[in-house]
Amino acid sequence: MIYNFDEKINRKGTNCAKYDGLERYFGYSDLNPLWVADMDFKTPSFINDEIIKAASNSAYGYSIDTDDLYDSIISWQKRRHNWEIKQNDIYMINGVVPAYSACIEAFSEIGDEVIVQTPVYPPLFKSVNANNRKVITNELKEDNGYYTMDLEDLKSKITNKTKILCLCSPHNPVGRVWNKDELEALADICIKNNIIIISDEIHSDVTFKKFIPLASISEKIAQITITLNSAGKTFNIAGLNCAYAISKNKEILNKFKKIAQKREIHSVNFFGYISTKAAYEKGDVFVDELKEYIYNNILFTKEYLLENSPNVKFEIPEATYLIWLNFKQTLLSHNNVKDILLLKSKIALNDGVTFGSNGHDYFRLNCALSKNSLRVALDDISKYFK
Ligand SMILES: Cc1ncc(COP(=O)(O)O)c(C=O)c1O
Repeated sequence: MIYNFDEKINRKGTNCAKYDGLERYFGYSDLNPLWVADMDFKTPSFINDEIIKAASNSAYGYSIDTDDLYDSIISWQKRRHNWEIKQNDIYMINGVVPAYSACIEAFSEIGDEVIVQTPVYPPLFKSVNANNRKVITNELKEDNGYYTMDLEDLKSKITNKTKILCLCSPHNPVGRVWNKDELEALADICIKNNIIIISDEIHSDVTFKKFIPLASISEKIAQITITLNSAGKTFNIAGLNCAYAISKNKEILNKFKKIAQKREIHSVNFFGYISTKAAYEKGDVFVDELKEYIYNNILFTKEYLLENSPNVKFEIPEATYLIWLNFKQTLLSHNNVKDILLLKSKIALNDGVTFGSNGHDYFRLNCALSKNSLRVALDDISKYFK
């Protein structure tokens, strides 16, 4: 391996939400933070060097997107996901979540309905409410830890007010990489009902099986899709606030741009452009090694829990460094589990109910940390869950 993921880095005292936000979000500062979806791995030097080079110029004025930034995105999507896009299909923005909120405003009216597939990354439904639209929940089906879409339920919930479906692909927190059949069946329903799909593909690079960008499947599907993505998760640069929207439908992209400009979310951080370009130009080996390391951490967690806490279960995710732990078989109440994690194990995990009501009995564990640190956290969990 070229990259050393065993190396421990100190993030405490660096304005780091994951560490320095513990007191604010959990009420205790002495927790081991395995929550927020960023990684306790160093951002690779091919990105860091570019940031240092830019910083050494000591001027941080307004920045602008250049053609080579777009080239890097186009090339990455082609190399890694076999998706052909063009520069004018892309629009830079300062985050997937701000873009997502802008999409809600752009493609629906107040009072319209937006479908979300829970359990899911909370801003996807919070932002619907914040924009005064109505959340329609199409719960995922769970079978022994494996989640699929409930398309019959979806069909039954569509009305003439349903304008948008929010797809999380790959899915946070359940770790699914949706396959072509699933995506086609979903898109087919949306095409028939004039529903626009916002496809959040921010986790598409850390996948353990083939990922298919929704809009790459067919021209028909591309025409109803706006894709949101960023190098933030994959390269640990989420704090640099650089993301992008892609749509091959000019009307969709123009509507989105109009709202993005109104909301002033199209101006990207000075370091955001630089780091995204470096990531996509030079990041292949890093991502390949990162995936291997993370997958080993996932397998390690699986074996560890099977041996030491067999009542804490999870299905091996097909993507992401997020593990969706199911505590049902501990027979403890959700709040009891929460208290034990915080007060005894002293571990900060994301509470499953924040992902939707079907996240009851679940907590999300982030395993993007050194294996040794992961082992310490698992020791602390398993002491109290047998
Ligand atoms: C599915 C998903 N979308 C979006 C985001 C955040 O994106 P951004 O930081 O670009 O707003 C996250 C972060 O955890 C995520 O998991």
